[in-house]
Amino acid sequence: MRILGIETSCDETAATVVENGTKILSNVVATSAEMHAKTGGVIPEQAARQQVKSIIPVIQEALGTRKLGISKGKLLPSPYSLVPDIDAIAVTVGPGLIGSLLVGVETAKTLAYLWKKPLVPVNHLVAHIYANWLNGQPEFPVLALVVSGGHTDLVLMHDHGNLKWIGGTRDDAAGEAFDKCARILGLPYPGGPAIAAAAANFQFPSSNFQLKLFPRPIIKEDNYDWSFSGLKTAVLRETQKSSFQHPSLASSISPQTSKLAAEVQEAIVDSLVVKTVRAIQKLKPKSFLLAGGVAANRRLREKFADEIKSKKLKCSFHVPDTKLCTDNATYIASCAHFNFKPLPWQKISANPELTIMGEV
Ligand code: KG4
Ligand code: ZN
Repeated sequence: MRILGIETSCDETAATVVENGTKILSNVVATSAEMHAKTGGVIPEQAARQQVKSIIPVIQEALGTRKLGISKGKLLPSPYSLVPDIDAIAVTVGPGLIGSLLVGVETAKTLAYLWKKPLVPVNHLVAHIYANWLNGQPEFPVLALVVSGGHTDLVLMHDHGNLKWIGGTRDDAAGEAFDKCARILGLPYPGGPAIAAAAANFQFPSSNFQLKLFPRPIIKEDNYDWSFSGLKTAVLRETQKSSFQHPSLASSISPQTSKLAAEVQEAIVDSLVVKTVRAIQKLKPKSFLLAGGVAANRRLREKFADEIKSKKLKCSFHVPDTKLCTDNATYIASCAHFNFKPLPWQKISANPELTIMGEV
């Protein structure tokens, strides 16, 4: 089965064709991140306007121009329009920014109606996990940690469509903590890759030096919850010290900024790894899956791999290709393949508040 996937939940406009939930035939992503880098964060209205412009060309490219039934920017009238070689359409319905979601959802509904194809509504957070089916075959039961810009959720999956939420953040998401701390440090948006790059420049003064400046709240509690909102206050306090030189005043990223970036990264990574490893030890899943934009973080990937190995956990560790961690449409199509529940287009609408356990 070939599925056209469409994703527009935040500042990306993405389309893809995936075969049998595992084989990527095309993957096109247009992003307005550069525009948002200038303002230090996503401006929803601007993101949606950009998506309105990009959505048809992006779908067109994912399908191959001739097959879309579009000529010189105009949809060809019915008997002449070529129906593309796909079996279904999948679209992110939430969570996300309402203006952005509407662009993808309404386009998908129109194409499904026009081409008489089944339309599958997809939960973006559940879908992130499916990036792991694009480079492997995880065995159930699966424990999955979804760490994205707006969400941090730990879920146990006994099968496709059988999810149990076991923990998550009480306040800021892991990606949000990266983004907010980067802003305080004067590093660009998106903050995660900027902090990772600055942290990579940090010169450890000795081989046994430990990055322990910032707190790891509730790490000792016997639950699978996180709290990241205190981190930004702790970072702010450090930058308010008179000795701190703001990066915009320096010609390049100073050793001080690199040190604080490394401390931020280690505080977030440590919290995520310690609690998740505890969950693996207690719940004994066959596979552990990392997913979401923050899963692109090299230090996080390495620390999980090291801990699973050193603690001799009998659990295979899966992590998507780095470029498939951040938002794109491949895992939307894959999720729809393994959870194939099409609905009539009249019953599908955007839901910005959807949670990982939300019905779609
Ligand atoms: O999944 P995603 O692309 O979008 C959402 O669904 O939110 O995640 C975006 C988040 C941002 O907070 C970004 O800073 C973070 O993922 N991120 C990273 C890295 N790459 C992206 N965080 C840490 N290290 C990275 N290399
Ligand atoms: Zn995402």
